[in-house]
Amino acid sequence: MPKDLVEGGAPTPRSLLRIVIVGHVDHGKSTLVGRLLHDTDNLPDGKLEELRATSAKRGMPFEWAFLMDALQAERDQGITIDSSQIWLRTPGRDLVIIDAPGHKEFLKNMITGAASADAALLVIDGHEGVKEQSRRHGYLLHLLGIRQILVAVNKMDLVDDPAARFVEVAEEIRAYLSGLGVEPAHIVPISARDGDNVVQRSDRFGFHDGPTVFEALDGFAAVTMPSDRPLRLPVQDVYKFDERRIIAGKIASGRLSVGDTIVFSPSNKTARIASIEHWGGPQPLVALAGQSVGITLDEQIFIERGELISHLDHAPMETDVFRARLFWLAHNPLTKGSRWKLRLGNAEAEAEVQSIERVIDATTLDSKAALSVERNAVAEVIFRTRKLVAIDPHDRSPATGRFVVVDKGAIAGGGLISMDGYADQRQLVTRNATNITPVETVVTTAIRERRNGHRGGVLWLTGLSGSGKSTLAIAVERALFERGYQVFVLDGDNIRTGLNANLGFSPEDRAENIRRVGEVAALFAAAGTIVITAFISPYRSDRERARAAVPRAFHEIHVAADVETCEKRDPKGLYAKARAGEIKDFTGISAPYEAPESPELVVETGKQSVEASVFRILDYVDRHFAVPSTEGGGI
Ligand code: ADX
Repeated sequence: MPKDLVEGGAPTPRSLLRIVIVGHVDHGKSTLVGRLLHDTDNLPDGKLEELRATSAKRGMPFEWAFLMDALQAERDQGITIDSSQIWLRTPGRDLVIIDAPGHKEFLKNMITGAASADAALLVIDGHEGVKEQSRRHGYLLHLLGIRQILVAVNKMDLVDDPAARFVEVAEEIRAYLSGLGVEPAHIVPISARDGDNVVQRSDRFGFHDGPTVFEALDGFAAVTMPSDRPLRLPVQDVYKFDERRIIAGKIASGRLSVGDTIVFSPSNKTARIASIEHWGGPQPLVALAGQSVGITLDEQIFIERGELISHLDHAPMETDVFRARLFWLAHNPLTKGSRWKLRLGNAEAEAEVQSIERVIDATTLDSKAALSVERNAVAEVIFRTRKLVAIDPHDRSPATGRFVVVDKGAIAGGGLISMDGYADQRQLVTRNATNITPVETVVTTAIRERRNGHRGGVLWLTGLSGSGKSTLAIAVERALFERGYQVFVLDGDNIRTGLNANLGFSPEDRAENIRRVGEVAALFAAAGTIVITAFISPYRSDRERARAAVPRAFHEIHVAADVETCEKRDPKGLYAKARAGEIKDFTGISAPYEAPESPELVVETGKQSVEASVFRILDYVDRHFAVPSTEGGGI
């Protein structure tokens, strides 16, 4: 019997960390990898000597990059090391360095899920600094959602004042990456050629007190095993056996136990696991990621294929809008406004391309704004689904944070999900109140409207900060009041000092801000008042919910002025602060604004005077808020 087993338990597998290396070839990627292999004793015996001898014979000085060429040549002949996957064995684990020249195949594999990386090493030439190429590679890391990043500033032996130069380059790269939401764990000054700070610490760059490249790589967190992540079990089928229903699927991540309370998303139903079924043996009490299971519940609830099972805490997000990093494979392009079928786990969803934020050429990593995504391009796209879907951002849950686009049964594209800038809507649709019986009042809205001589309703102003919402709201309120209307303003900055003082500007807080204001506005409308709301209300989904709260009396008014105009006005000095990085998630700068698609009214405050805009709104009120003379009667 193997020793390990005699001593009890299986041998622990060596853990593995996959690191993608990116950077311009001339910035010393191969030299760095050659050095890493050599200085960690991971080269085949005699390899280096052999290459040094060959160089000498040819009268050429030895270069570390030759090593990579030699390994590449051997790979082409099918011998020894695969140079696109370099293995570094360390005492504790294996590090695999994957070479990514930014090439199409790699990107495609990463995005569609065939390959994965847990960390990245970005190599920059300290002499040249952050060039276009380094920016593109930085963007690649953002695109792939890799969070553990190490930057090596190479060729520091060639610069005159390494200490000063290093600070310059490090600041530049930090600023660029932070603009993409990418935070490097360390930035290390190195000379790959001489081996300074690669594996061995070097006195040459005494100003650096951080780790060497190797130490930093080895220090990256091991990837969480799928079974240690939050539970995700996409429902594949529901079988009916005699009176029991068995819910079947393969556990994508996490683990489940008999007795656990689970939630089904997006239906939001909960139940407890009564059993884990097993044919021909004792029933297990626990099941893990990778296993296909059938479970039964303690109560009969109606569940369909496509729901995503999780525990109550660490549930997936629910949303009807998400950001996708998409690789497009189909011949026909993906265009703004086009509709597709998405497959998310076992769920299918109809979705529309709300916007195409950026298209990236997969070969050159060049990016540009575009209206369509052609075959073999990568793009950042906002999808809007018809109904709420249960999803995970890819960086939180690699197993479920992806989707494919299906066209006539074939896969047209695939992508990673990001929720950057968008809210988890689960809390907004969750009902916690039970045993509730609303009362009917005798003094109805119609009676109030008759007494007021006008209808109640909501004038919902939406637009960027500085677009003029508050100015218009106050002027319209005054004019209506003078004409005898019952009218009231709910303004963002005012409500946020009271009712919503506990909310900030995260996507979730903004969504909750608008949910509450929508409900309050509905109460005012029911009381027969005209309520004017002045909130950025940047998300379509939130405005749609506010509309649903006041059927037939909701009037969306887009206070339209472009970011440039609002920034020029900057009445509260907030744009300046946002640009200086002092306010994060600032609408229009670092947080999204989804303009209304079909508002009842648009006032272009960038193009016309305040008086003209007020006049248009008053005219609108005249036409829409009159009480028909036939209506009414007393109580
Ligand atoms: S909303 O997005 O949730 O609808 P709301 O209209 O209530 O925003 O509040 C916007 C006001 O808050 C702005 O006019 C501005 O004065 C202030 N503000 C503070 N931080 C931010 C931010 N990060 N983004 C936008 N506005 C902000």
